[in-house]
This record gives sequence, C-alpha cells and structure tokens, in this order.
Amino acid sequence: MKTILTGIRANSELTLGNYLGALLPMVRLANKHSKEMNVNIFVPDLHSIIADIDGNLQQNIVRTIKYYLAAGLEVNDNVHIYRQSYVPAHSELCWILNCVATMGETSRMTQYKEKSEGRESCNVGIFDYPVLMAADILLYSAEYVPIGEDQFQHIELTRNLATRFNNKYGEIFVVPVKTDEQVKFMGIDDGIRIRDLLNPEKKMSKSTLAENSKIMLDDAPEKAAKKIMSATTDSLGKVKFDMFNQPGISNLLTIEALVTDTPLQDVISTWAGETRYGELKKKVASSVSTMLADFQAHLETIDDKMVFELFESGEKYANDIATKKLFEVQKAVGLR
Ligand code: TRP
Repeated sequence: MKTILTGIRANSELTLGNYLGALLPMVRLANKHSKEMNVNIFVPDLHSIIADIDGNLQQNIVRTIKYYLAAGLEVNDNVHIYRQSYVPAHSELCWILNCVATMGETSRMTQYKEKSEGRESCNVGIFDYPVLMAADILLYSAEYVPIGEDQFQHIELTRNLATRFNNKYGEIFVVPVKTDEQVKFMGIDDGIRIRDLLNPEKKMSKSTLAENSKIMLDDAPEKAAKKIMSATTDSLGKVKFDMFNQPGISNLLTIEALVTDTPLQDVISTWAGETRYGELKKKVASSVSTMLADFQAHLETIDDKMVFELFESGEKYANDIATKKLFEVQKAVGLR
C-alpha cells in the first residue's frame, strides 16, 4: 500500500486563508485516498523548536489536530496521526542523512537563506531543517507528500539524498515522486491563495495588524461576516473574475467557491455581470459565517482525550514502521 505523508506545523492561530488553502485541501485529499493508501499526518514538533514558540507548544499541537478533525478528517485504520518527537527514529535517521547531505546543497535552500539572513548566530537547527524533513519522509517510504510550494525545494533535496544513499548502500529508500507529480496528485494547479480583505494584492496573513484584513478560525461568525462586508473591492462596478484588475472581487468569488465546495467556474458564472457588489458580499458573508459556525460547533465536540487516543495508536504504528526502516539503514551503513 502506498503512503501519503504530511507534516502539519503546530500553529496557535489559523486564518481563513490557511484553512481554505491548506487545511481543507489536505483533509479532502486524505479522505479521498485513505481507503487505498496509508495517510500519515504528523506534527513536526522538533521542527517547531528552531524558532521561539508563540504560545504553548503542547496546547498548539493538540489544537492543530483538533482543527483537522473539525474540518472533517475521517479517521480509519489507514490514517495515522503522530508527533515527530515521539518517534525517535526521525532524529536518528536525520543524523545519518547529515553524513550524506553536503554543505553546498543544504546551504542553497531558500528557506534557510531567508531565515538565517547570513547571521552567524542562526541556530544549526534552521540549517539542518530540510535534512530532518527528509528523514520524516523516507522513514515511511512515502511517495506522496502534499505540501505548499515553499517546501518543494525540500522535496527535491529528499529525492537527492534518497537516490545518493541508494546508489551507495543499496535500494533502501523509496524516492518520493517529483514535485510536478506531487502537484498533479494534490489536484491544485497553482495553489490557493486567499487575499487580505483590505489589501487584496497581498496574501491573507495572521501577522497583518489590521483586524479587518483577516478572518481567524476562532472569529465569531457575525464578526467574520462584518469583515467580509467591509472588504475592499474596486470602482469598476461589475463582477468579474480578474485577479489583476479586480483582486478584491476575485478573492470573494474564490472564498465563496471554497467555502461552499462549489467549482469556482460555477460561482463565477452565477455572479458574472452583477453590478451590486453588496449582494455578492452578503452571500459570501453568509457562507463564511455558516461555515465558521459549523466548524466551531464541531470543534467543541472534540476533546483532548480523543486526540491523545489518536496519538497513542498513531505513535505505536509510526514507531513500528520507522524503527524497521532505521534498522535497515543502520545495517546498510555498518552501524548494525
Ligand atoms: N516543513 C514543513 C512546513 O514548513 C513541515 C514538515 C516537516 C513536513 N516535516 C515534513 C511536511 C515532512 C511534509 C513532510 O510546512
């Protein structure tokens, strides 16, 4: 059975953009494939500590998993939910891969370059982050790794490390598919980017200070509706999907499509030519507030105990698979 694997960063707060652009697509993908594939969803808590944590890491880990469940993740025997640091094989394989990776290739990683800004005080974890990520993937022989564009370079690194290792020590690792095939598998052409409500040229981000720029998953539904009503549009006076000239309107159409799970083209043709922007806003505001109310009600029903039970069985499974793979690797390099 093939494996899909993804690491979900523990986040204290998620925006509607994170939800519609990352969380929901992942949940739909998992539900679509979990009958015929293993779906490994893990929290990379060792990755979290490369930076100062905002909030309480333990709470954020549990809350992150609750968000996936509240978004409709269906859990069956093929779905494995675990925490990275509860599976020590990740750290151990990371060390072995450190001895395969070169300074040159890891120094070229864009994320490292951006995060370190050439500072000597940058911690080694930031530098080594992608090698740990390769270990996360290779331990489970995962072929599919649904992930945002900013992580594609790390998938390519994983492929290179796996191939180099296999050439030297024998066919131990399954090489994940190329990023263009990953994109096809995810079924998202060019990623979903929900825009800032007040400045629709920009991506919606939790770090934007203006409250009305962003909708947070824990916003009261009425409050979210008000934010949609106050979203920036344009003065062209005709609804059209045109990200360049009408980014605000296009953003609202995109939100409506995703929130109501309707193909974007259908939403576009329903509203094409409408001259009263207020009507579109009212519809989107109502869709968003209904979605948030449902999501929040569902979230209420999920308690910590449910999450810890999932961790318990997921970590048992993960340790079993990962320890076996690690042992193969240890034997191949002569450690066993
Ligand atoms: N680096 C990923 C991110 O920033 C999280 C992550 C860690 C991950 N390990 C992974 C994703 C392995 C997929 C597979 O979002």
